Amino acid sequence: MSQAAERAASCAGPCDDFAASVLEGLSKPAKSLPCRFFYDSIGSALFEEITRLPEYYPTGTEIAILEAHARQMVEGERGDAVLVEFGSGSSIKTEILLRHMTRLRAYAPIDISESALSEAKRRLMSRFSDLDMQPIVGDFTHPVALPPEFQQRPKLGFFPGSTIGNFTPTEAALMLRRMRMTLSPRGRLLIGVDLKKDVGRLLRAYDDSKGVTAAFNLNLLARINRELDGTFDLEAFRHEATYDPLEGRVEMHLVSIKEQTAEVANAQFHFRAGEAIHTENAYKYTVEEFQGVARSAGWTPQRVWLDGSLWFSVHELI
Ligand code: AVJ
Repeated sequence: MSQAAERAASCAGPCDDFAASVLEGLSKPAKSLPCRFFYDSIGSALFEEITRLPEYYPTGTEIAILEAHARQMVEGERGDAVLVEFGSGSSIKTEILLRHMTRLRAYAPIDISESALSEAKRRLMSRFSDLDMQPIVGDFTHPVALPPEFQQRPKLGFFPGSTIGNFTPTEAALMLRRMRMTLSPRGRLLIGVDLKKDVGRLLRAYDDSKGVTAAFNLNLLARINRELDGTFDLEAFRHEATYDPLEGRVEMHLVSIKEQTAEVANAQFHFRAGEAIHTENAYKYTVEEFQGVARSAGWTPQRVWLDGSLWFSVHELI
């Protein structure tokens, strides 16, 4: 058995998750790969580059909303409150909130990347020397245990970036329900949600002119080659972004340019010419649609902050 196949067969923890998920996703009649595997170190660097592209409006727009309204967002928060961030990555947006949380500052970032957490800790501790920062290495899509000293304190949840859009509305509601449990009792959540808009602008954000998003998408195949003894010919697949108006989502695909076979961990996968691997969904909502999802998860929508172009929303839920 190859090393990768052994890894897939033998271990039942998160370590085999990639191998097992890839084999499963490529075995389906409609091939797909889970988008959470985009973020190895190369993929994370490419995503950072995406956030700096002019076409990728969500990051800059959300930062502008946070800059404009952070004071209101955190005012009235109790002095002993803990800021809990789901999928914190580099914690860049968090700094905007922390700057306005002038009293006792406590921060529990949750992320799967230990290196992202330690880098964020180093940066934030140099800027906020009194910050009580307790990083949690973990998958925010699963219930998370906060450090005991934080458990009894009031919690402000933060989930920016429209990452919630990667989930179907049903999954999103489940996720919001779990976050509500993590933040209970009486938690508050600030969540960034990308809005429905002109389809051209949406598609340009997911198929930029420099080809960074294409490289980000194709890196999934490169990662399979690196980690799972894959034989994907990266030249024989192209990046594609489409919008499905009925589902209200942007979809990313990797389309096979020709008929071909690729191996992963010694298993063979056949591709017809034009056959696609579905790699990501990014659901877009109206304010009311997202509030409906939040309500179905037990939350009560409060204030909503938008940018002037109505491209992005930050919701307050209690
Ligand atoms: C990090 C999930 C919010 O869906 O907009 C960016 C990921 N994919 N370009 C998004 C992504 C392609 C991004 N999220």
